[in-house]
Amino acid sequence: MKTTVRTINKLKSDGQKITVLTAYDYSTAKYFDEAGVDIILVGDSLANVALGYDSTQKVSMEEMLIFTGAVARGVKNAMVVGDMPFMSFNVSVEKALENAGKMVKAGAGAVKIEGCNDYILQIVKRLTESGIPVMAHLGFTPQYIHSIGGHRIQGKTKSDTEIILDAAKQLQDAGAFSLVLELIPEESAKYITENLEIPTIGIGAGKYCSGQVLVSDDMLGKFSDYVPKFVRQYANLKDIILNAAKNYCEDVKNGKYPEEKEVTHVSSQD
Ligand code: KIV
Repeated sequence: MKTTVRTINKLKSDGQKITVLTAYDYSTAKYFDEAGVDIILVGDSLANVALGYDSTQKVSMEEMLIFTGAVARGVKNAMVVGDMPFMSFNVSVEKALENAGKMVKAGAGAVKIEGCNDYILQIVKRLTESGIPVMAHLGFTPQYIHSIGGHRIQGKTKSDTEIILDAAKQLQDAGAFSLVLELIPEESAKYITENLEIPTIGIGAGKYCSGQVLVSDDMLGKFSDYVPKFVRQYANLKDIILNAAKNYCEDVKNGKYPEEKEVTHVSSQD
């Protein structure tokens, strides 16, 4: 059954954790969907892990749409959330609506927007009213890295936590159906989660969030440029890929690939 905002709300009210993973391509999305992941996020982290950019700020709306379409085509049940990239929603409310609409046309069932200010609240409200559910994102928000001043844990003090909670409540009131909390001490994320109605989805935010999200290339052990402390690697795809490629090269060099069953002859029936 297709996961919708209602499904996500029910998971929260039943006290069940919400599972979120990022995906960027058709087959990975298909397997995550088959595994029962609730939400598949086409995160702008694809800038780093799929496109090799050094910042998420470098990925364009056009690029995000290609990956969102690929993921959506692989998914039957999960909710697909398209991440609104840097500057795709910052220029005007109209442009934000237009770009979020493109995400939905590419197959997303919701969009994610980083940050909170009066302008973003307006966008969240307009999108929600237009039938586009919004996942909000607070704490460490990579699109604002230059103003934040690096990869820093947010909400370390009581007053900083209150500021995040206040923003979270405003986003909730504007219509956001869920909130990603990134790089926040566990105690702060717990306090924020307990004081919200919408579910929180943590990444590096401890175990008390309503759900968890990880970047798939991190949890699959594929991306190795840097591995954050909070990541648990459930596989080691880097080694699997390296070994497979080495074995392939060896077989080709030694004339072991292809062998008889892998070739076609003029006289073949197939
Ligand atoms: O882009 C992304 O993958 C994200 C997650 C880290 C939440 O925003």
